[in-house]
Amino acid sequence: MNKLFRKKSLSLMLAQSEKKELARAMSLIDLIFLGVGCVIGTGIFVVTGVVAAESSGPAIMLSFVIAGIACALAAFCYAEFSSAVPVSGSVYTFTYATLGELLAFLIGWDLMLEYVIAVSAVATGWSAYFQSLLAGFNLPIPDIISSAPSMGKGGLIDLPAVLIILAITALVSKGVKESIKFNTVMVFVKLAIILLFIFVGIWYVKPDNWTPFMPFGFSGVMTGAATVFFAYIGFDIIATASEEVKNPKRALPIGIIASLLICTILYITVSGVLTGMIPFTKLNVGAPVALALESVGQNSIAGIISIGAVFGITTVILAMIYAQVRLSYAMSRDGLLPKMFSQVNAKTKTPIGNTWLTGFVAAGIAGFIDLTTLAHLVNMGTLAAFTLISVAIIVLRKKFPELQASFRVPFVPVLPVISAMLCLYLAVSLPYMTWISFAIWIGFGTIVYFMYSRKRSNLNQ
Ligand code: ALA
Repeated sequence: MNKLFRKKSLSLMLAQSEKKELARAMSLIDLIFLGVGCVIGTGIFVVTGVVAAESSGPAIMLSFVIAGIACALAAFCYAEFSSAVPVSGSVYTFTYATLGELLAFLIGWDLMLEYVIAVSAVATGWSAYFQSLLAGFNLPIPDIISSAPSMGKGGLIDLPAVLIILAITALVSKGVKESIKFNTVMVFVKLAIILLFIFVGIWYVKPDNWTPFMPFGFSGVMTGAATVFFAYIGFDIIATASEEVKNPKRALPIGIIASLLICTILYITVSGVLTGMIPFTKLNVGAPVALALESVGQNSIAGIISIGAVFGITTVILAMIYAQVRLSYAMSRDGLLPKMFSQVNAKTKTPIGNTWLTGFVAAGIAGFIDLTTLAHLVNMGTLAAFTLISVAIIVLRKKFPELQASFRVPFVPVLPVISAMLCLYLAVSLPYMTWISFAIWIGFGTIVYFMYSRKRSNLNQ
């Protein structure tokens, strides 16, 4: 029994991170860019339309506020943890130090689901914008190779989604410096098109479109919040990069909170402008932002935004692959996953085998499952992680009062408890099937832990 709750020593973790196997190449600005690069993507460009049409109506602004509050509370916990324990592996590592090995393994397993499925989900959204862009040039891709079978459009495979994942995997496997340069350019592109949309679209807002404000009632707003939550996912990834950051204790908390703040302001504004421009009932399409502009005759701006979205969304795929690789790297280094996941290539200084495995699995999933199903699963995995980190921060304070964190969550334990409860409430708003799939994944993980990881854990040696 004690073995299940054995903990990794904090001093050991810090010593391991001091060994600097990975290159410390990122500055605070790189980190904020990584955060924004991971966050703004398919969520705002695609999911917003579906949620406005089917769950929230114009009150999608409120859904973004609620989901944003849940993320901000979790972000505080991430910030304190990552400034106190700046080692690779994020919430997995934090849990290992506080709540013990079994829970740490399960949360790592859960995060692998979040990241891999997020790569697939975001690529599916990318594919939607890519197809709408090609259609604008009269170059439609046949449904049979451009939509997942579960979409019911007669498709066999979403080939654009598969190919973009493999292309980005190739980039990530080349090394962190190359990836950062690419990410920085794309973040500029993404911010530029979002601002362009806001400044052009705002002139076409008709306040009449905002009534009825809550066509599906408050429960619709909450369901909407549980779905648009997807748009915020990614800021937590900053914490997984801690071993590659210069001055992590200062840079991590600032990076996490700043990137979340930037995204929240943009999301609320974009969703307000979008639902003000056209009636929410029309927004249930693959490329709602482009549609809104076309509906007011701004076709060329719509084209520019589609091109920007196609480029911009790629950084989210990049960041999620990056996070998955770093997480499984940390778990493997602890003996909980096979050694292959932590083998670093001497030339590129990246775990190449692990990176390609992630790319192939995510590409396989993206080809065959639709965006909404995937997004719900990603949200479930993330909400579970946020709940756990909120609990873990209370344990951290109690068990390790001597730890020096440069950022501290205010009002502990009240804020973490509210955070955990809000996350659970949002998770309850997700579909039944999502819960079942999640339970199967965690059940499978438990078997892997008892059959493999428990014996091979470094703490067992
Ligand atoms: N937040 C990420 C996106 O919206 C997952 O694409």
